[in-house]
Amino acid sequence: MTELIHDVDLADPQTFHSDLTDFWKQLREHSPVAWHPPRGDNPGFWVVSRHADIMAVYRDNVNFTSERGNLLVTLLAGGDSAAGQMLAVTDGHRHRELRKIMLRAFSPRALERIAERVRENTRRLVAEAVERGTCDFAEDIASHIPMGTIADLLGVPASDREFLLSLTKSALSSDAEDAGEVDALMARNEILLYFGDLVEQRRASPGDDVISVLACGEIDGQSLTEDEMVLNCYSLIIGGDETSRLSMIDAVRTLAGHPAQWQLLRGGDVSLGTAAEEVLRWATPAMHFGRTCLTDTEVGGVRIAAGDIVTLWHSSGNRDEAVFDDPYAFTLGRTPNKHIAFGYGPHFCLGAYLGRVEVSELLSALRTFSRGFEVAGPARRIHSNFLTGFSSLPVRFEPDPAGLARYHETRGASV
Ligand code: HEM
Repeated sequence: MTELIHDVDLADPQTFHSDLTDFWKQLREHSPVAWHPPRGDNPGFWVVSRHADIMAVYRDNVNFTSERGNLLVTLLAGGDSAAGQMLAVTDGHRHRELRKIMLRAFSPRALERIAERVRENTRRLVAEAVERGTCDFAEDIASHIPMGTIADLLGVPASDREFLLSLTKSALSSDAEDAGEVDALMARNEILLYFGDLVEQRRASPGDDVISVLACGEIDGQSLTEDEMVLNCYSLIIGGDETSRLSMIDAVRTLAGHPAQWQLLRGGDVSLGTAAEEVLRWATPAMHFGRTCLTDTEVGGVRIAAGDIVTLWHSSGNRDEAVFDDPYAFTLGRTPNKHIAFGYGPHFCLGAYLGRVEVSELLSALRTFSRGFEVAGPARRIHSNFLTGFSSLPVRFEPDPAGLARYHETRGASV
């Protein structure tokens, strides 16, 4: 069964343009902890495909570290330059303390305010698109919501948002196979400089946003360095923009292809919260994360040596038949739904609550303003070995005049 993995190069973004359903199924059954051999300049690495084994590695931050990178691309390159500074690639005491500081900006009051903005923003964008009749859902709706949410968390002034959105598109987008490396690097540097300026401003007059809590936070009596502050601001964009965007785009595409499930949602037969969890399991926008083994150990009965790279495949774990009944069915009412789209353990996604709010507000707006929708042209797939989904999705809506009229009445009343 080792030949299974000889035919598939998981480091190559092109691989993910094919349907890997059968590959993952076979791997879970016959070789759940498989050795992906070295190819070209890339070293070999372990591929963990069962839900239980993925959770076991995530939980174990004694034998496994994120400090040598947590994505295949950085693990294969030999490390992450932000290690020990940026939350996702920092471990142990410093990770716990940094996470505590960042969580101050995620207080229930702050989150409630941000969730309300997500709701307003989503309803406005969806209502406008439904009234126009057609849109590119990715471009016209999904690209605005997560960045707006992160900008709220960071306290980015409204006047700078478009500028930041255009920079993050150039810095991170996996839209095109030939996305310019130099442009991406320049955009990334501009974002870091921009956050550097904001840190200075917030140090002088702090608020309750992430930049302020980082600017005022201390670990073991020492302020954070400017690099740490700036990198952790940036990490919210890396962590929360494209993942949420891809989940929303996938929600629309999948619902358009599952009319019976759409009717259940529209009729109120499934709760928004339960439906959002299934959308997240189905989309699984982050296909993998990874760790480096620190001491010789075992995963699923297979020996892993210190220094080995271990990759954890959510795209497989979220279809594991040992955990999910009928895993290949999109079932909005699925409970329980122990998906691992947000990871697990000490590095569990810091933005999970907001990611869930974004998806459920989208579902709510769709069912209020539209009777139904269809994909109106070819969707463009992104090119990545880490994220999966679409960067363009033409959609045609059938409006719900009653829902739209109620929306305009309440807006009229609140103006
Ligand atoms: C961590 C997925 C939304 C910020 C993670 C991890 C996953 C994940 C799987 C674990 C990484 C690891 O263990 O190495 C997702 C998905 C999202 C989403 C699928 C949307 C559907 C967000 C949002 C934010 C965010 C909205 C910020 C506002 C972060 C941060 C971490 C993280 C800062 C690092 C946490 C730590 O290391 O302690 N995310 N995420 N994410 N996520 Fe998310």
